[in-house]
Amino acid sequence: MHPVLLAPSLLAADLARLAEAVAAADAAGADAHHVDVMDGHFVPNLTFGPGTVAALRRQTTATLDVHLMIEAPERWIDAYADAGADGLTVHVEATPHVHRAVRRVRERGLTVGVALNPGTPLAALEPLLDEVDLVLLMSVDPGFGGQRYLPAVEGRLRTVRGWLDARGSHARLQVDGGIDATTAPAAVAAGADALVAGSAVYGAPDGPAAALERLRQAVASSIRPM
Ligand code: DX5
Ligand code: ZN
Repeated sequence: MHPVLLAPSLLAADLARLAEAVAAADAAGADAHHVDVMDGHFVPNLTFGPGTVAALRRQTTATLDVHLMIEAPERWIDAYADAGADGLTVHVEATPHVHRAVRRVRERGLTVGVALNPGTPLAALEPLLDEVDLVLLMSVDPGFGGQRYLPAVEGRLRTVRGWLDARGSHARLQVDGGIDATTAPAAVAAGADALVAGSAVYGAPDGPAAALERLRQAVASSIRPM
């Protein structure tokens, strides 16, 4: 069986207590910390910079999965690599030079991901499929946590899963936005093997550990056989 990776998004944590959030997710066995970097241009919100990633790096040895929702991400790859990110995901919509960005992430020895907004044709992904370790399909328009999951992502996940399997790719297929124990099973059944969840984890009244366990239970029956 293929393990589904769970990455809580720190965007939904108490931003004045990031160290505590990271410790709680680590204790609960999260596979990675998802760090949503927003620049106020590519998306209408501002969040973290390289300084925050460096500070998080000092708090955990777990994977820092940095989702760059910024224009021209190629300008910032070295800064986030120097800060200690393990993986960087760039949006195809954010730069005319997405190959350059992808190659720079790879040159720096990090895991490289490419992300698509819900309205971006999947064809934008095809030339990049052999160059990436992760494909991120957004299930909301990025910019904010707590938005409603768009089920149209499931057809897109199926298509990309087919492309990855056809070429024997080991790239992860990640879904991000509105993921909780109700929406996750269909996303996993459609081929996702990496889930980002913000409000479902850090907004859970019974805490992140219980929330992660609910997600694990919810997807356990949807995992496709290898
Ligand atoms: C959306 C971000 C997501 C967000 C997910 O722009 O990329 O990672 O934090 O939050 P939820 O799970 O609350 O939709
Ligand atoms: Zn994200």
